[in-house]
Amino acid sequence: MSRRKLAAGNWKMNKTPSETRAFIEQMKPLVADTESEVLFCVPAIDIVPAVEAAKGSNIEIGAENMYFEDKGAFTGEISAKMIVDAGATHVIIGHSERRDIFGECNQMINKKVLKALEAGLVPVICCGESLEQREQGITVDWIRMQIKIALQGVTAQQVAGSVIAYEPIWAIGTGKTATTEQAQEVCGAIRVLVEELYGKDTAEAVRILYGGSVNPGNAAELFAQPDIDGGLVGGASLKPEFEVIAKA
Ligand code: PGA
Repeated sequence: MSRRKLAAGNWKMNKTPSETRAFIEQMKPLVADTESEVLFCVPAIDIVPAVEAAKGSNIEIGAENMYFEDKGAFTGEISAKMIVDAGATHVIIGHSERRDIFGECNQMINKKVLKALEAGLVPVICCGESLEQREQGITVDWIRMQIKIALQGVTAQQVAGSVIAYEPIWAIGTGKTATTEQAQEVCGAIRVLVEELYGKDTAEAVRILYGGSVNPGNAAELFAQPDIDGGLVGGASLKPEFEVIAKA
């Protein structure tokens, strides 16, 4: 297995354009020699300054969301093409905050995944269960449904180049990380699902991240699991200590 690890930050609604420039400049030397891929997904207004600041470095920039239409009367939205033209390479799709606060459903997430891929972006497709669902014992069923719908109409080759992020909702921003066993169990189940749908080669190629209170102290153990190819990191991606996670 030769999947390259990916340390991905999700800034959420944090950092202004000028703070973005300063932070990326600060991070550049810190992560210059990491073996893993380093990605910051940033607010739409921060994409251009982040791309400019990251130029010539190994830092990649992504968006946190996009709409699935090409253009038109969709006030407040941004398109995949805008993200590409701004110089970003990735886009987070279906984060639980988008689902829960902004009412995004699985069908919408599927449309966004298809549009992102069409535009040449790498989608970071998020899934995750609530605490109630975990207690009901339906975690893996729920995740399988989310991923199955998100991947409708997506080809094996496209899936192989995509990223799936497992983020238990109860672990996001709570300081309550899933145990390595819990995280590996679900990430392993996602890989099994991808194998069922697309075959072994695709399952071996797709990168599956864990997210939810990843920090410099727990990253190495999580990323050492056979089916965890890195992390999607919220709070801890806003600080220079992200270096430790990128090197984990
Ligand atoms: P957290 O967020 O690392 O702050 O828990 C993770 C995420 O929501 O992607």
